[in-house]
Amino acid sequence: MRSARHQTSLENENSMRGMTDERVLVTGGAGYIGSHTIKQLLARGRKVVALDNLSAGHREMVLCDELVVVDVTDLDGLRQAFSRYRIGAVIHFAAHTAVGESVENPEKYYRNNLLGGLNVLRLMQERGIRTLIFSSSAAVYGEPRSIPIKEAHPAAPVNPYGRSKRMFEEILTDCGTAYGLQHVSLRYFNAAGSDEEGQIGERHEPETHLIPIVLEAAAGLRPHIEIYGTDYPTRDGTGVRDYIHVDDLARAHVAALEAVEDGYAAPVYNLGIGRGYTVHQVIDACRRVTGREIPVVEGPRRPGDPPALVADPERAMGDLDWRPRFTTLEPIVKTAWRWMQADGVRS
Ligand code: UFG
Repeated sequence: MRSARHQTSLENENSMRGMTDERVLVTGGAGYIGSHTIKQLLARGRKVVALDNLSAGHREMVLCDELVVVDVTDLDGLRQAFSRYRIGAVIHFAAHTAVGESVENPEKYYRNNLLGGLNVLRLMQERGIRTLIFSSSAAVYGEPRSIPIKEAHPAAPVNPYGRSKRMFEEILTDCGTAYGLQHVSLRYFNAAGSDEEGQIGERHEPETHLIPIVLEAAAGLRPHIEIYGTDYPTRDGTGVRDYIHVDDLARAHVAALEAVEDGYAAPVYNLGIGRGYTVHQVIDACRRVTGREIPVVEGPRRPGDPPALVADPERAMGDLDWRPRFTTLEPIVKTAWRWMQADGVRS
């Protein structure tokens, strides 16, 4: 849909976007997906201001010239940040993201993910900013009834993290109706890998995600990788996930922003590669990439893990003129491994 309308004027339009004084404000800009998105925004000539409380993010991952250190739950601090810049649009990442922790401490999740988001919306309204891209999650689907998952699949989250994401999507729908807010929620499947150029990358403390954990085991930083469940109704009994490269995710944010600015984006897009890999397949890919032994221990299921989550990304590919460049697992793992080795040397 996009390419036909845009072919002739695309270059002009992009240089126009780059020429405006308005910045894109990226909350959670020092985090994993936020920092990669900033890199892609800069590559498109956009001016950016990052906002982060640095509780989980890292200052050195922020490649734009402005970083405001503030917590999204601090309305006054946020107001000061919003008043300092001319902001044309917001990409809202700032959130707590650990599913297990959200079960143990739901109040923390609702406070940060909902109150923080509401503060952002309040300030957008105060300053007449009408465009928001929201970092949502496949966690809104809960235990899916069918695979691959389309956006029309019922949302039935099974943990406070997923519920906080779903609730905020609904808040956006209401704000769209009431105030004319233009919004897009991007439901990510499993973000993986690191910046292709090796400038920035994934650094979670503590790390809970499969690929970096397996690579840490390969590097000898962990004694083994524990597989959470080998009795799922999947190809080899282990959990299936759709791993999407973080640069592809980041480019999808830029594409969604441009689409909503041009007035034709849908409210929700699934972002994955449309292909599922089991935990065993991930470990095998890591063995091939690293050439190392990776000791494995089989353990019980992790509570709340669905057997399989695989995206149907057709809507995003059709509307946003976007395609994942990484369409198989091994090249994704390669970028993660390269980053981990470089990052280990740095720290
Ligand atoms: N896994 C293991 N051992 C580990 C870690 C993970 O076997 O040490 C398995 C999990 O059981 C799952 C797969 O590897 O089958 C992927 O697990 P991750 O923790 O890497 O990712 P999740 O699929 O659990 O979570 C991701 C995002 C969440 C998001 C969720 C959507 O990290 O933010 O997808 O359901 F909410």
